[in-house]
Amino acid sequence: MAHLAVNVDHVATLRQARGGNDPDPVLAAGLAELAGAEGIICHLREDRRHINDRDLRLLRQMIKTKLNMEMAAVDEMVSIALEVRPDMVTLVPEKRQELTTEGGLDVMARPDYYKGVVERLKSAGIAVSFFVDPDPEQVREAYRCGADIVEIHTGHYSEAKTEAEAVERFRRIETTVVSVSDLSLGISAGHGLNYLNIEAFEALPQITEYSIGHSIVSRAVLVGFERAVQEMVKLVKDF
Ligand code: PXP
Repeated sequence: MAHLAVNVDHVATLRQARGGNDPDPVLAAGLAELAGAEGIICHLREDRRHINDRDLRLLRQMIKTKLNMEMAAVDEMVSIALEVRPDMVTLVPEKRQELTTEGGLDVMARPDYYKGVVERLKSAGIAVSFFVDPDPEQVREAYRCGADIVEIHTGHYSEAKTEAEAVERFRRIETTVVSVSDLSLGISAGHGLNYLNIEAFEALPQITEYSIGHSIVSRAVLVGFERAVQEMVKLVKDF
C-alpha cells in the first residue's frame, strides 16, 4: 500500500507574497498529518524563496510522521541537514532561475561526489533519497552511491500535452520501476501529480510513496474559499 507525503512549499509561497506570517507552512504541515499524510516535505532552497530556516527548524520540532528535507547536494545544505536532522533528505538539482525543480539529478555525472554526500548524511542517521528521471541507469547509479530511496521524477509525465504522450511517458516510469525491482531500494514518485493524473499509478505497486504539493495547495485554496468568504461575510454583515 502506498502513502502520501505532503510538500508544504507553496503554503510558504503564499506567505511570501505578502512577506508576513500567514499562511504558516508549519501549521499546514500539522493539518496534513491530522488528515492522514505520512510524511511532510519541504525544500530549503539556496535563495529561500519559500521555505526558510525557521520553517525547517519548527517542522523538525513538530512533525510526528517523517520530515523529508529536499535540498541541493551542496555544502551549505548538508551542514544544515546535519544540524537539523530531518528523518530523510531528498537530493535534487537546483538552478537559481528555475520556477520549480526541472529535472532529475544526473547522478552519473558525479557519482563520487554524491557518494561522499550520502556518506556524510547517513553517518548522522539521515536516510537519503535521490530525485531522478525515469531512467534505470540513473536509478542504479543512485543505488551504487548508497541511496536508500529514489524518487522518480513524474514532471514530464504530468506535463504531457496529449494522451499518447502521457501513455508513452508513463510507460517510461513503469519500465524504470519494474527494471530496478532487483535492488533493495525504496521507490517514491513526485512532481506535478494531481487529482487526475495520479490514477494511472494504481498500476505501479512498486511505488510506495507519493510526494505531492502544488495540486494539494491549489485545491485547498478552492475548496476552502467558500467557507472563508462566508466567515468574512458574517463578520461584516451587521456593521
Ligand atoms: N518532488 C520533488 C523532488 C520536488 O522538487 C517537488 C516540487 O517541490 C515535488 C516532489 C512536489 O511537486 P508538486 O509541488 O508539483 O506536487
